[in-house]
Amino acid sequence: MTAKVIVLGLFFCAFSIHNAFAQDVVDIHLDNLLSMQQGLGLPHSLQVATGHDALMKLRREMPNPYTCTITTPMGVTFDIQSPPDNRFESWSDNCGVRVRNVTLSDEGRWRLTATAGEDSISGWIELYVEDDKTSYTAPTISLQDGQTHANVELTTLDNLYCTVAQPASESSLVPGHCAVTLDRITRAVKGNWDVLLALPGKINELHVQRQISVEAERLDVGFIHDSNANKIHLYCNILVTEKNITFCRFQRTNAASGYNIMDGLSDGVHSYYGEGFDQRHCGMTIEEPTAQDFSTWRCTVGVQAWVGALIEQQTPLQALISVSSNNRMSRSLEETEIQTVFTQVDREFTVMCRADRSLRYCWFQHPNGTQYTPLPLADENQQFWYSGEDFQAGDCGITFSHATEGDAGLWMCHMGPSDQVGVEVTDRLNVRVTGPLAANYQEIETVVGETATVYCRTSNGVRPLEYCRFMTPSFVGLSVDETVTEENAILNRFYFTPGRMLNYGDCSLTISSVRAEDIGVWTCAAVVNGDTEEARDTVTLYVSAGSAHNARTLSQAGIAGMVIGLAAVLAALAGVVWYKRHSLFTSMRSNRSTDPTVAFSRRHLSTSSCSGSSNSSVLEDLELPTITTSQRTS
Ligand SMILES: *[C@@H]1O[C@H](CO)[C@@H](O)[C@H](O)[C@H]1NC(C)=O
Ligand SMILES: *[C@@H]1O[C@H](CO)[C@@H](O)[C@H](O)[C@H]1NC(C)=O
Repeated sequence: MTAKVIVLGLFFCAFSIHNAFAQDVVDIHLDNLLSMQQGLGLPHSLQVATGHDALMKLRREMPNPYTCTITTPMGVTFDIQSPPDNRFESWSDNCGVRVRNVTLSDEGRWRLTATAGEDSISGWIELYVEDDKTSYTAPTISLQDGQTHANVELTTLDNLYCTVAQPASESSLVPGHCAVTLDRITRAVKGNWDVLLALPGKINELHVQRQISVEAERLDVGFIHDSNANKIHLYCNILVTEKNITFCRFQRTNAASGYNIMDGLSDGVHSYYGEGFDQRHCGMTIEEPTAQDFSTWRCTVGVQAWVGALIEQQTPLQALISVSSNNRMSRSLEETEIQTVFTQVDREFTVMCRADRSLRYCWFQHPNGTQYTPLPLADENQQFWYSGEDFQAGDCGITFSHATEGDAGLWMCHMGPSDQVGVEVTDRLNVRVTGPLAANYQEIETVVGETATVYCRTSNGVRPLEYCRFMTPSFVGLSVDETVTEENAILNRFYFTPGRMLNYGDCSLTISSVRAEDIGVWTCAAVVNGDTEEARDTVTLYVSAGSAHNARTLSQAGIAGMVIGLAAVLAALAGVVWYKRHSLFTSMRSNRSTDPTVAFSRRHLSTSSCSGSSNSSVLEDLELPTITTSQRTS
């Protein structure tokens, strides 16, 4: 007796070896009946979804013949050979029952008893009935682009395992609760996810489709021209963000200052437009807009966000809005004057293009055909890197750490606008790899009797000159500085160009009235402060065949109409803006030596009075190809 109790104890600890003791435990003692019943029912407990069959039996075999009696949770007892209902039938070689088409009322404890002569064993099974899930719908799961270690819960159901197939990916099996952790959210996970769920009580896996959306924090940018009320509304609203707006600024890209826009405040012309900073709306209404307002605007939205337990200022978001009145024609790039970037061998140089709209990407073509796609500056040994503010601001720039002679020539920028696909926007820049002093233009077209300017300057940033001299095509040497003005001109017609300074690296000669003997090759020469050798460059003055050049200038002036009068003002403003922007961007790269090459490359915007077509070229520079930003009309 004692021995048998021990044997039974082992039986419950290790079912897998129970067969070894089969002969010992057949003889059931009444004292142990309760515990044995639980152990003898197979399975112990059973979850079944409605409509499925429940299969229940006793674990132990009985010697034949035996009778098998079933007691339902409702207390109905029957012999399995004569069931009261055709839902019940004998199941397995042991005493067992198959209950077809389980319903909720079948839930509870089922008792099975097998009796052969004197011997009788009994066991029970707890049956749990689940609602049969044939479908599961849940709302779209919204994820934020760029989020790391994101846990995506695919169901709230209690499942055993699931398989998850992301769009265009193999499926993977997840044991336990159906959730996946993504290292980094990208748009590649966007779409329908196919999930197969294993639910308790259900043989067939439940197919669930979860819609995943991936949204990036971005600016919704555009303008509304309300011609009835004579207003323009510009807007730069942030979508999908946890950040809050701290300020909202608008600036015309060719203006020296901007507008600090706040809800409820107006200067009579400019006021807030939108639903409020709390809705992450940054917008500006311009009442009675002027012609100048129909140009490219930059919006800057200041934001703050929680970083741990602190609120911190984040990098402001920026975008460009190209406001055009409907009748304005876009200009072809062919007409724009090509700018020149100056650099010296082994020095850093930057090729910089700007679009009047936000970009998705940009790349460059070297004069020899090699393509370069700039990446952010990450380490000191990088040969080239991205320059500029960001793509949102339309900046497409590349800086190379060491210029070679081979880098000279025509470079192409290719810019992909962020809000459209199709043909890329392109721009061209000329790179010159020169000595320390370089001519701004090596060839200058002129007309006898008109004014011309021969302009050389330091090529790698602003450095003072010790002196400045020129040699005319007829080998007359001229030494000039700021004291030589139009009033005391050398030979009554050569003087130092007003507004330029030796201290700022300018060596510039104005010829008040060009004569035939001035046509030909000029030499400019200077010693750059700190250098031991004199540096030189040459400039060729030439007269064009016929008057085609003048005709072109006139017709362009006619097309441009009154705007041309503004060009000089705009040019000066653009120069100021450029310098400001440039100094900001160089100061951001504080670990590098500052390189004002870029400033020089754009300098002719403010100083291009040296060629006859300067006014129209300045105008074109300011109006890069126009592509209208999502324009709504009201
Ligand atoms: C943003 O504003 C909301 C509402 O005023 C506030 O609950 C939240 O903490 C703010 N978050 C930040 C980063 O300032
Ligand atoms: C083009 O020039 C770059 C820089 O000098 C050089 O690395 C590259 O090999 C050149 N490519 C060709 C095709 O000559």
